[in-house]
Amino acid sequence: MIGSPTAPVRLLQVTDPHLFGDESRTIYGVQTAVSLRAVLAEALAPGVPLPQAILVTGDIADDHTPEAYGNFRRALEPYGLPVFCLPGNHDEPALMPALVGQSGFQYGGNAELGAWGAVFLDTHVPGRPEGHVARAERDRLEQELQRMHDRPVMVCLHHPPLPVGSAWLDGVGLTNADELLAVLDRHPTVRVVLGGHVHQEFEQRRRDVLVLATPSTCAQFTPRTERCVMDLKPPGYRWIELWPDGGVRTEVRWLQGWAVTERPPDDRF
Ligand SMILES: [Fe+2]
Repeated sequence: MIGSPTAPVRLLQVTDPHLFGDESRTIYGVQTAVSLRAVLAEALAPGVPLPQAILVTGDIADDHTPEAYGNFRRALEPYGLPVFCLPGNHDEPALMPALVGQSGFQYGGNAELGAWGAVFLDTHVPGRPEGHVARAERDRLEQELQRMHDRPVMVCLHHPPLPVGSAWLDGVGLTNADELLAVLDRHPTVRVVLGGHVHQEFEQRRRDVLVLATPSTCAQFTPRTERCVMDLKPPGYRWIELWPDGGVRTEVRWLQGWAVTERPPDDRF
């Protein structure tokens, strides 16, 4: 178990770092290895209350190389915190259990975070940008939620299960969100769904569930656009506190001292 069942658990979420084997490489004009390290250095600086674990909600590697996952491990390992990982559309799940599933790093599965349970879902579809929760993964979620019936639960995944209001992003969203939401609706213990993928801050309450998505540690997309428009926001990350009474406190932070003075090139779509 992470933390104690009688105290809030403090978590740092970082998402969509899009790392490469060659750390000099960039996307959207950002050297992604540098921006991830800058985020970690700010969030985990001396004097900032330390989280008890780090959650990484996918798009860890952009180039499908073991070296990119090695670079990810090397960026996080020095902090000595438990790291929970799951795959995004850009990831290579076949590589991940060996590279980000051992010695302080967990790939997928579930966790006990203080008084809370957490389930980490795989929404990766080979070769596709959109997401899907496969039958086996939905069945596993159902089983875990039955097992965790006596505590609040956070479900983590890459593709948010709600539209974010940008046509182009919602077109590469979770294709069977309705099937996932049907599972969640059977389990009122689910209080938070935490994702990435959309490279922007998103927060919406659906029934009693807080659905969150978080800015990338590299470049951001402008919310509510028809087509991809890069944003002038810096790298971001999210703090989450899970309280024993089921309460949640959460806050997105934008990296200080990192100015984006012109819209980055949209070199991806
Ligand atoms: Fe991403």
